[in-house]
Amino acid sequence: MTMDEDVERILLDEQAIRDRISELAAEIDRDYKDEAPILVGVLKGAVMVVADLARAITLDVDMDWMAVSSYGSGTKSSGVVRILKDLSADITDRHVLIVEDIIDSGLTLSWLRTNLRSRGPKSVEICTLLRKPEAVKVDIDVKYVGFDIPNEFVIGYGLDHAEKYRNLPYIGILKPSVYAD
Ligand code: PRP
Repeated sequence: MTMDEDVERILLDEQAIRDRISELAAEIDRDYKDEAPILVGVLKGAVMVVADLARAITLDVDMDWMAVSSYGSGTKSSGVVRILKDLSADITDRHVLIVEDIIDSGLTLSWLRTNLRSRGPKSVEICTLLRKPEAVKVDIDVKYVGFDIPNEFVIGYGLDHAEKYRNLPYIGILKPSVYAD
């Protein structure tokens, strides 16, 4: 059984992802000219985005990582977040760019941005590859958005279902039969 067989259809292929990441990197290069921002990747989903975005950016950037988890079970974020792995770096007086794979309810990022802002950075902005419709309704200012996507179960390029499919090179829509049972 290959992973591809669980995919209903490809939403964004490798070329589409690469092209959009190049555009985002060009915007970041322009906006942070003469600065050395720190990219904060949110584990685990953002690993692919950070890896490709960082290589497309020509500025001198630092990379750091956080792992967070919503309290409670279920598939929906509760908005209450705990830190599983904190940053290694001190972000005081730094320009911080949080990098995410997807914003769904927006609750994770809303919490994370408030948390990072309390540490005295020069700025905190957000870059996400994907944004779902619900996130658009939440009052959260996202400076860089790769794609606004429909409200479907997406996997691949870092995104998982029960830890599977993260290593698919494209973003696909999962067949409902895979998560229905
Ligand atoms: C995903 C994603 C975001 C969050 C978005 O992470 O990477 O961090 O959910 O959801 P929200 O906007 O509704 O808060 P997840 O908790 O699945 O962990 P993972 O990155 O390790 O897969």
